[in-house]
Amino acid sequence: MITLTEYFETDHKRLDLLLAQFKSNLENDKTRAIGLFEAFESGLRKHILWEESVLFPFFEKKSQFSHGPTHVMTNEHIEILQLVSQIQHSLTDEPNKSHVLFEELVNLLTKHNHKEENILYPLVDQNASETERSLMFMIMETGQVA
Ligand SMILES: [Fe+2]
Ligand SMILES: [Fe+2]
Repeated sequence: MITLTEYFETDHKRLDLLLAQFKSNLENDKTRAIGLFEAFESGLRKHILWEESVLFPFFEKKSQFSHGPTHVMTNEHIEILQLVSQIQHSLTDEPNKSHVLFEELVNLLTKHNHKEENILYPLVDQNASETERSLMFMIMETGQVA
């Protein structure tokens, strides 16, 4: 069975790819770029929902540590989603601003993902039995997280 670290890392890569494709289409095919950004946004929201509804509560329960890493990651999610909506607005209202916001988003996501991949996800894997891991995968894949 794959680890949660591998599963979430793969999703980070998929989202990074959508962002890169958005950026490379932005100058020449804005409609396609906007479509790619929408796909990124809905994928990101689902990813964050998995983390905040499945992974983080599991970690907090196991470690009894609710104001540590998960608290920091949850605050960063708020910042990330704020930037995502600012980019969406700038695409129609202020196209020049979207480049700056895009760079900010990439920097923030890179740091955020690095912390999750190197600290948080491995800690979750170390503390989860095979049964607990299967259960988390099942909840995420059947969409029963809301
Ligand atoms: Fe996250
Ligand atoms: Fe993540």
